[in-house]
Amino acid sequence: MSDESIIRNYEIEEDDVLDNTIRPESIDEYIGQKEVKENIRVFIKAAKMRNEPLDHVLLYGPPGLGKTTLAFIIAHELGTNIKTASGPSIEKSGDLAAILSSLEPGDVLFIDEIHRMPKYIEEILYPAMEDFSLDIIVGSEGNSRNIKIDLPPFTLVGATTRAGDLSSPLRDRFGIINKLEFYTIDELTEIIKRTSRVLNMPINDEAAVELAKRSRGTPRIANRLFKRVRDFAMVDGSDCVTLEITDKALNRLKVDKNGLDNTDRELLLAIINKFNGGPVGIDAISSSIGEEVTTIEDVYEPYLLQMGLLKRTSRGRVVTEKAYDVLGIPKKINKNTQTSLDLE
Ligand SMILES: Nc1ncnc2c1ncn2[C@@H]1O[C@H](COP(=O)(O)OP(=O)(O)O)[C@@H](O)[C@H]1O
Ligand SMILES: [Mg+2]
Repeated sequence: MSDESIIRNYEIEEDDVLDNTIRPESIDEYIGQKEVKENIRVFIKAAKMRNEPLDHVLLYGPPGLGKTTLAFIIAHELGTNIKTASGPSIEKSGDLAAILSSLEPGDVLFIDEIHRMPKYIEEILYPAMEDFSLDIIVGSEGNSRNIKIDLPPFTLVGATTRAGDLSSPLRDRFGIINKLEFYTIDELTEIIKRTSRVLNMPINDEAAVELAKRSRGTPRIANRLFKRVRDFAMVDGSDCVTLEITDKALNRLKVDKNGLDNTDRELLLAIINKFNGGPVGIDAISSSIGEEVTTIEDVYEPYLLQMGLLKRTSRGRVVTEKAYDVLGIPKKINKNTQTSLDLE
């Protein structure tokens, strides 16, 4: 893997041994997302007091912010098992029926990328979520009948990067809906220090803060960059990650001072150089930089919007003054951009 692809594979679930040791197990170890965490704590406690399963939970937000981690923590705190599936991998109604009928009372069923579940599968979920019942058709054509099977009470935890793509009947069946936010520098610093302890490679304070600043608000990226920085430290024969090593490693990985990677910069530069700063449609940006529209929308844009480098207008995407500053490009006074900004 090239340096760049190491950073850009945001969506790849890391399931090697290392990452499972980094992943926090209990809600107390889960850093940040204060509001979400406190709410979930209360709902879990109440469900336990009533001796009922926890209401179904939908978690949404950009990749790497801790949705899968939180799903596992919910099961851990409930003291139940968790079964996992992912939306696109459930192809046949029998697949879902098999998973559902294997659940034990109170179990958590985690469906990742739930927005990518086929519609006909979704419809099987409705009665399962609502009445804990499975309506299936058995028999061959001409001789088929509907049967209803009772399921044990369970909690569905769904995760998605695009809540807007969920059909409303599905969304309405979640009693608890939580949006995960980008993490602050302080929170990411804490996450990096925790990872450093778990992986047994010390990092000093200023290096941890620097790494946090350059992690795009995202724990997955913070952990991934920490591992690469650790490699540089080891090869340098250093027994602690210092600011100097961090800076050298991140520059080598082409992560700039603002945490922007090559694709972020390419995206902003394309809008500036090829489209006069915008407004420009997402499809034009997509073909100009060779990234899928969904990848731009789910992975790159959320952070650029949050950082105030990009704006969405009714006529398309526009780069902001701040983007010119951050990229170190003098802003051309351009009639198009001027009017588009004035219109807002
Ligand atoms: N709140 C958190 N505190 C500490 N580490 C976290 C937190 N959220 C995520 N992580 C780390 O980031 C990695 C990516 O999180 P993950 O749950 O897989 O994100 P998502 O499912 O939203 O893409 C996890 O392996 C975990 O180590
Ligand atoms: Mg995940």
